[in-house]
Amino acid sequence: MNQGATELRQQVYLRLRDAIDAGTFARGARLPASREQARLLGVSRNTVLWALERLHAEGYLVARVGDGTYVSDRAVAPTAPSRGAGQAAPQSLSRRGRLVAETGLRWNPSSAPPLPFRTGQPALDEFPFALWQRLERQTAPAARIACAGYHDPAGHPPLRAAIAQWLLVSRGIRCDAAQVVITAGSQQALDLIARLLLDPGDEVLVEDPGYAGIQANLIANGAHARPVPVDDEGLCIARGAARWPQARLAVVTPTHQFPLGVRMSLARRTALLDWARANRAWIVEDDYDGEFQYGPQRIPALCSMAHDARVLYVGTFSKSLGAGLRQGYLVLPDALVDAFARARALSDRHSPGATQDVLARFIVDGHLLRHLRRMRELYRARQAALIHHLARASHGALTLAPSLQGIHLVHEVSGRVDDTTLERRAAGAGVQLAALSRYGIEARRRGWLFGYAGYDEAALARASRALARCLE
Ligand SMILES: Cc1ncc(COP(=O)(O)O)c(C=O)c1O
Repeated sequence: MNQGATELRQQVYLRLRDAIDAGTFARGARLPASREQARLLGVSRNTVLWALERLHAEGYLVARVGDGTYVSDRAVAPTAPSRGAGQAAPQSLSRRGRLVAETGLRWNPSSAPPLPFRTGQPALDEFPFALWQRLERQTAPAARIACAGYHDPAGHPPLRAAIAQWLLVSRGIRCDAAQVVITAGSQQALDLIARLLLDPGDEVLVEDPGYAGIQANLIANGAHARPVPVDDEGLCIARGAARWPQARLAVVTPTHQFPLGVRMSLARRTALLDWARANRAWIVEDDYDGEFQYGPQRIPALCSMAHDARVLYVGTFSKSLGAGLRQGYLVLPDALVDAFARARALSDRHSPGATQDVLARFIVDGHLLRHLRRMRELYRARQAALIHHLARASHGALTLAPSLQGIHLVHEVSGRVDDTTLERRAAGAGVQLAALSRYGIEARRRGWLFGYAGYDEAALARASRALARCLE
């Protein structure tokens, strides 16, 4: 039998089976005679007989001698295609699995470009794609082959060395390449920290309001995220230490507190380091947008201060180059590096070799420095444009204070304002405004967040006008 005839039989079989599944031929119903079906379908009677025989063998049909063919009373009900483990009921997960599934992040950004004023969005259209592709093409044949194989889970050595040098220049951190562990962004770095340094039930001080990505990670790993207020000097460590004396770790964003945008004062940094030393606790410094400082004096990272190996520094290229790259890193005390590399190897072995290789050359050849210089100029101008257009459109009702850091601004309001009302109205007008109250655990601070880096002046002006109309 030729292939065309085989396919035709298969098609007729599937068509009849679908008709039974869909109820077109109900259970117990008599099917038209095979000759009639062949005529209706425009195929030979033999083709129909083959399909009927198969459906008979599978239990879809029963033949009654001298009376024709009927749909079986036991014909299987239509079923959705099996999706396997993804559809597992929560009860079938382990206790730890349930915790992960219930608290884990499931960001599912749409493919549409983000709208102003969604936070955390750099200007991705400014990424030097052509240059990146050129670097990819310039990879030497031997390096290309090496990149295609397994890598050191701690990271590609040239990238670790490039980051160590970069950190000295950009963040004042003096470290050895051997202390740098490459991760898939800061989220994986935080996950490794929680898995390796915390036991279920351990207490961790977190900023309140703070970053949900950190809190969810800690909770999913069985730790207790303990809220500590943030004031104009950053995390109030004295209050945290007094209320949660058992805490073993503190996670902070000292350069540009997320979401409030506060820079941690020197006094507070010193107090935090003293707390860590006295309690043999860890400090996790999440420096998610530390490269974006616009003043003449850039503040170095907390990790650049003497810290007796108590600070674990978490860096990411998500804001400087793009979150899709999934490139981040940890700077760790020597004694922890091996355990982190082993943990990384257990879950996904290592970051993609070719991307690490290109990124290393991108940094060493000075492209990161140039790109960031250009982005700082651009973002400073966009911040000014946001402040200008918003104040003008709202007739001064939304006058934002400028900031020397980061890629978003916060407008905090006092009193009992429900900030989610404007958030909802703005969403209806095509403006992505985040209410500050969403980031609080116990904190009751109100206001809105304005991401500006990823939007040109025209888009910022349009969104400002649309938002101003929501205030009326
Ligand atoms: C506080 C904070 N940390 C880290 C990140 C970056 O996460 P990742 O490096 O996993 O993309 C963000 C992203 O918005 C953030 O707001």
